[in-house]
Amino acid sequence: MIYSEKVLDHFTNPRNVGELPDANAIGEMGNAKCGDIMKIYMKIENNIIENVSFKTFGCGAAIATSSMATELIKGKSIEEALQLTNKAVVEALDGLPPVKVHCSVLAEQSIKAAIADYYTRLGIDPTPIVGVIDECDACHDHGCCHEE
Ligand code: FES
Repeated sequence: MIYSEKVLDHFTNPRNVGELPDANAIGEMGNAKCGDIMKIYMKIENNIIENVSFKTFGCGAAIATSSMATELIKGKSIEEALQLTNKAVVEALDGLPPVKVHCSVLAEQSIKAAIADYYTRLGIDPTPIVGVIDECDACHDHGCCHEE
């Protein structure tokens, strides 16, 4: 499997790893097929994602895409973060092997889950804003690298 320089860089030197002690939004997403888990922490202030970090029990592609995704949304508004697609993250990494694309969906979904958590904590129903987050979409849409 061939990985781009950027993927290898973000895998060996991931940015924004760990927990945020003052997080006010936490999203966790699991991939039912491979069993990998992603957790995203955010500190949101005045609609801006002031800080973001992640922890993952996942493969190298999951680590690289989470690292890149957190870099892309740091300092951005909630609306901009919700528009971040896994495709944009993969493009920013100069591509991923097709069987690993579903790993990037884990980062996208975890970001949405964290923003949903933020609104829930404020007593606001997140569904009209964030939409329904279905972890299985990742596998259905993109296939899973652990499938035959
Ligand atoms: Fe499960 Fe990559 S996220 S194999």
